[in-house]
Amino acid sequence: MKKIQISPSILSANFSQLGNEIKRLEDSGADMIHIDVMDGHFVPNLTIGPPVIKALRNYTKLPFDVHLMIAPVHKCIKDYANAGADIITIHPEATDNLVDSINHIRELKKKIGISLNPNTQISIISHLLDQIDLVLIMSVFPGFGGQKFIPNALNKIKELKKIKDKKNLSFDIEVDGGINFDNSKLVIEAGANILVSGTTIFKNNKGDIKKNIDTLKSS
Ligand code: DX5
Ligand code: ZN
Repeated sequence: MKKIQISPSILSANFSQLGNEIKRLEDSGADMIHIDVMDGHFVPNLTIGPPVIKALRNYTKLPFDVHLMIAPVHKCIKDYANAGADIITIHPEATDNLVDSINHIRELKKKIGISLNPNTQISIISHLLDQIDLVLIMSVFPGFGGQKFIPNALNKIKELKKIKDKKNLSFDIEVDGGINFDNSKLVIEAGANILVSGTTIFKNNKGDIKKNIDTLKSS
């Protein structure tokens, strides 16, 4: 079994202190930094783009796990690669040609992630699973932090893990949205090996992010 990794979402961080927040995450045992990029169009919320990501790059050596909730995504991918993304995750609905976008991320020598919304079936990417590094299962509808975990995500993780084992593939299974201390064990047992978390890490235990990361890791 792959080691469980935690990718804290800075969506719940103090946006006036992002550099320091990222340092704090690194010091607290985060494995990577989840950066939610929202365009106010593909999702009804607006966050940050390449200049801010580039500025944050100096604050940590941890991989930047960049979750692009923007459409059309294809023409922007290079900007995020140049800004310092290590993993670039896109939604199939946000590109006219998913294979072209996958190839583009590969050419830029970045890890390729595909994100599946709660209503998007695994079958639409099953023929591509040997070409990608990560599948991000959304356990909320993307757009906002602090939403409630959708339990059906567990079935989807199990289905994906089954396919992965059957085909002997190596992509990571990451889960995003509403992860807390009650469901983290279930998510891991279902087959996920990377947990994204914003609210639980930044708001629980009076913001003791080390304690919260440790608790999620030992689920
Ligand atoms: C939702 C984002 C998530 C979210 C996670 O669109 O992709 O990364 O911010 O935050 P919590 O853990 O608060 O659900
Ligand atoms: Zn995300």
